[in-house]
Amino acid sequence: MKILVTGGAGYIGSHTCKALALAGHEVRVYDNLSTGFRDLVKWGDLVEGDILDTERLKACLRAWQPDGIIHFAAFSQVGESVSNPGKYIHNNVAGTLSILESMRETGVRNIVVSSTAAVYGIPERCPITEDMTTAPINPYGETKLFMEWMLADFARAYGLSWTALRYFNAAGADPEGECGECHMPETHLIPRVLMAMTGELADFRIMGDDYPTPDGTCIRDYIHVTDLAAAHVLAAERLCRGEAGQGISLNLGTGTGISVREILQAAEQVTGQSLSYETGPRRAGDPPVLVADGSSARKLLNWTVRRSSVDEIIRDAWSWHTSGRHLILNT
Ligand SMILES: NC(=O)c1ccc[n+]([C@@H]2O[C@H](COP(=O)([O-])OP(=O)(O)OC[C@H]3O[C@@H](n4cnc5c(N)ncnc54)[C@H](O)[C@@H]3O)[C@@H](O)[C@H]2O)c1
Repeated sequence: MKILVTGGAGYIGSHTCKALALAGHEVRVYDNLSTGFRDLVKWGDLVEGDILDTERLKACLRAWQPDGIIHFAAFSQVGESVSNPGKYIHNNVAGTLSILESMRETGVRNIVVSSTAAVYGIPERCPITEDMTTAPINPYGETKLFMEWMLADFARAYGLSWTALRYFNAAGADPEGECGECHMPETHLIPRVLMAMTGELADFRIMGDDYPTPDGTCIRDYIHVTDLAAAHVLAAERLCRGEAGQGISLNLGTGTGISVREILQAAEQVTGQSLSYETGPRRAGDPPVLVADGSSARKLLNWTVRRSSVDEIIRDAWSWHTSGRHLILNT
């Protein structure tokens, strides 16, 4: 396959480019480098461009004629989406619309997109299945749900084929150390714990220990970024084989919930470092438990979770963080 990867200079996008290349596919990255890094584009060439620039996108699709698009390009900081919703609606909703219009006009028919567990809001029960109510509680989740609706509309009207992958908590790094996580600011738990251990982060704190969970801290479903990347390759292959029908949304998670305190204990064990921390108040809008039922993705994509034990996730993330490569990306 020839796959255009929007956002391929970012965290999950770069791992997916590597997985696509290893599976024998041709990759081209389309990225404006707003939160991504030129140095993470290693498995195909980079077209520096904005997804909102429909003319540039169309020219890129016409010139290269990919079999499909994997669309990661978006903003994804929940807190910022609350304080600056227009930024998120513009990039995530109008940006996706620009991609869909470009596909329609250039005859590209297949698209896999990054969606999120945030579309469920506070779920009525766990593990979460895809047929449960979607009721996002922040603008970020709303933009991703609206993106899924747009895909369904374009599929009905123009026959596009789509798969939306709803990730739970992406974590870990490439086991060979060729790419890894680097968000600014970093809001994800595991890199924050590791950055606190290396002294990069001064003020690590647990956000709330009075949730209705066994140890009082939030429970999440952590999925290794290489397992996520593998699911994207399988989803794109399925679309390009013409087996997918019009469209579907699939959860990507392990089905196992791990609490914040359990992550801290595992991080201390894996790294041999100890971490002193304070406990602060709850962060607004954090559901107590988010755990995926990923059985549909396993069945439909023939997807297997291979590397998502908490120890493997932390070990790979620790190697990446202690190598200092995420700091070089920033220079
Ligand atoms: N990281 C997670 O835990 C997680 C969980 C659920 C969903 N997601 C989704 O996965 C996707 C990738 O997340 P990530 O953590 O790799 O983020 P990231 O910030 O590392 O990567 C996003 C990439 O998109 C690019 N980009 C953003 N806006 C663009 C635009 N207008 N035009 C062109 N390029 C643009 C950025 O430069 C960056 O390279 C996002 O859509 C995010 O919402 C992430």
